[in-house]
Amino acid sequence: MGEYWTFRLHLDIFKVMLEGHDLEQGSINKREAKIMDIRSRELQRVILKDTRVIELLSELNSHHHDTYLHSLRVGLLSIDLGYEGQLNESKINVLGYAAHLHDIGKTKIGLNILDKKERLDEGERSEIKKHIRRGFVILTDFENEEIKMIVAQHHEYQPGSYPRTDLDRRKEDRDDERRSDNSDIDYLGEIIAISDMVDALTSSRAYKEPLPIEEVEKILRTEFLGDSSLIDRVLKRY
Ligand SMILES: [Fe+2]
Ligand SMILES: [Fe+2]
Repeated sequence: MGEYWTFRLHLDIFKVMLEGHDLEQGSINKREAKIMDIRSRELQRVILKDTRVIELLSELNSHHHDTYLHSLRVGLLSIDLGYEGQLNESKINVLGYAAHLHDIGKTKIGLNILDKKERLDEGERSEIKKHIRRGFVILTDFENEEIKMIVAQHHEYQPGSYPRTDLDRRKEDRDDERRSDNSDIDYLGEIIAISDMVDALTSSRAYKEPLPIEEVEKILRTEFLGDSSLIDRVLKRY
């Protein structure tokens, strides 16, 4: 990995941290930056020093810069929600890795689809869904199974026809099950899913402008299938 890229990556991270993620249509505003836990920034810095992460994000950056910036923002917000939720350090570490790499499969999706301004057709929609499976394959060498599983699940907490793992459940079932002792609903997956949704909704994409926060709230309240207290925690940042 060239020194230039490492320098660029750290410059971007620095900007994300300093400017409160308000980086090229970034979604997290300055007020949020202020309430971000200093530990979140520290952990992001540590994760982004891992050569495997550097190489993967470098590839993502050269392929699709917007997805790379989105990944940095989702990474930091997820870690922060983890600290706020008082998860233990090892869980937050897994969360941080998975959040930064959640869309790594998009390095294998064509720009004609990622940057398409018009609505995707059926074939294109099924192609973009493959970023889940491809991300899982790219992360084969990561020995931590939890990281791979969370990456594989990151679209399960929203409606739609994304491929499901066997952890797929409707919202009502999740709420009941979350209360049971042996629930295996992955709270880390829920955190990444809401960070991903809120960043996608509040950022510009080739096909849309950022949505106002009232609109974002409406969508999250109807479409986010995870723990609803996460919605309140995310919204209070705006
Ligand atoms: Fe995704
Ligand atoms: Fe994403």
